[in-house]
Amino acid sequence: MPRGSFAPAYLKDRLMHSAALIAVSLMMGTGLAGAADLSAFMLTPKPGRAPRINGPGAYGARPGRPFVYRIPCTGARPIRFSAKGLPATLHLDGNTGILSGKTPDKAGEYKLELRAANQQGKAVRQFKLVVGDTLALTPPMGWNDWYTHYDHVTDKLVRQAADAMIASGMADYGYQYVNIDDCWMVKPGSDNPELQGEARDADGAIRPNRRFPDMAALTAYIHARGLKAGVYTGPGPRTCAEFTGSYRHEEIDARTFAKWGFDFLKYDWCSYTEVAGGKTLADYKRPYELMGGILPKLERDIVFNLCQYGMGDVWNWGGEVGGHSWRTTGDLGLEKDTRLPGFYSIGFKNAAHPEAARPGRWNDPDYILIGSVGNAFNIQAAPSPTVLVPDEQYSYMSMWALMASPLIFSGDMNYLDEFTLNVLCNSEVIEVDQDLLGKQARIVRHTESEFVLAKAMEDGSLAVGVFNTGDKPARIQVTWDELGLDGQRRVHDVWRQKDIGHASDLLSVEVNRHGVTMVRLFPN
Ligand code: GLA
Repeated sequence: MPRGSFAPAYLKDRLMHSAALIAVSLMMGTGLAGAADLSAFMLTPKPGRAPRINGPGAYGARPGRPFVYRIPCTGARPIRFSAKGLPATLHLDGNTGILSGKTPDKAGEYKLELRAANQQGKAVRQFKLVVGDTLALTPPMGWNDWYTHYDHVTDKLVRQAADAMIASGMADYGYQYVNIDDCWMVKPGSDNPELQGEARDADGAIRPNRRFPDMAALTAYIHARGLKAGVYTGPGPRTCAEFTGSYRHEEIDARTFAKWGFDFLKYDWCSYTEVAGGKTLADYKRPYELMGGILPKLERDIVFNLCQYGMGDVWNWGGEVGGHSWRTTGDLGLEKDTRLPGFYSIGFKNAAHPEAARPGRWNDPDYILIGSVGNAFNIQAAPSPTVLVPDEQYSYMSMWALMASPLIFSGDMNYLDEFTLNVLCNSEVIEVDQDLLGKQARIVRHTESEFVLAKAMEDGSLAVGVFNTGDKPARIQVTWDELGLDGQRRVHDVWRQKDIGHASDLLSVEVNRHGVTMVRLFPN
């Protein structure tokens, strides 16, 4: 093989599999996932039986606040967890690996050594608890119900999602937020009795609708599993789905969310247009400044997600107003594109703002819509298997990880198939997303048929995604000049988790139609 280039042998096989899969899907006349056995396409190797501790190497929290964190760890259960350097205010459950209690009152970096052991081996991981004023040192990971349950979300479905996050193993890779989207409140004027009633109590506090009998009990259920709970509202009088919003009740709503035990707030613009007064930058910022000023004063850490679809170039000021992440675009589920699936155009738009991302501040290109997922154009339709082919799904996840995006799955947690989990749960792909340097990949190349992203990593390696957006398989070359590299690099295939050679001046890879090759280039 010539120096500086390599052509992995597996590619030939994959092309043949692609042809077979297309044949299967034509025969079935239906979406691919679930319709065919996709095991032949799985890139992520099965995790070992010995423990491996996943998740970020650092975690930000404010002083003296309630804390819960389940150590993400793969390997055969039972696993016994222990920790060195644990602050006295925290407790570790050795059987579940759940850290809980309160963060120390004193700001500073607390260095912990996390340990996990089972009969097959042990793992040790350094973990910094950074007590200060920055939350979300790495992009939030979890699930949001919107694209599956829309206006029929219930307490029961949210609890099931929390259970599935543990049972499926997703939590072992770092997924931890269980987020309720719109439609948990009362809907003024609704003819559905479950959604009717007083929107607020005598004190003005927001009331959930009848599908959510006890919000505090619901967050307690989620926290008992070492997970975190998210909630949704908006600054306008009504939410996007016409439920009760927080207009003129911002403070009391934030306090209520903290009292109920929520750890994450999505704040969705929608009907705020009616009361904004104009379309200046100040008008765009105002509602987010208001809520962004309230949240840090609460007695609970609440990660603040701005949802206003990128208006006023939010990536330039979302962090200033207290946001930890901000949607850069409209809804992914509503994206229409004639040639490529919607995640590409959303991804391309989001990829244009790498300079905005850093620890505690993330561009948000919306959720990961794979598996069994609903239809945003018809929210009453039952979820059905994604129409994205396997190569597109791996491209989706790779793009999101390289962009240091929040990794929020929004498919049905009750129908998690093996292939979907294979895409969502690759520890090395997630490591790229969760890297502590907090860089978003820069665009190296963007043409009609090629898209290349490169993300600098804390250890000096470079994560590179080579995406084939053309209509047929292609060999794609990326030079060291373009990547800003010099000298020999070890080439590591991130999805397959193995070294695939060395290269000295260019990367040359065969990439399937709509597929990706994601590598990490190491100095040695
Ligand atoms: C908007 C948001 C979506 C979702 C819906 C809920 O469209 O962008 O993510 O929250 O509102 O109504």
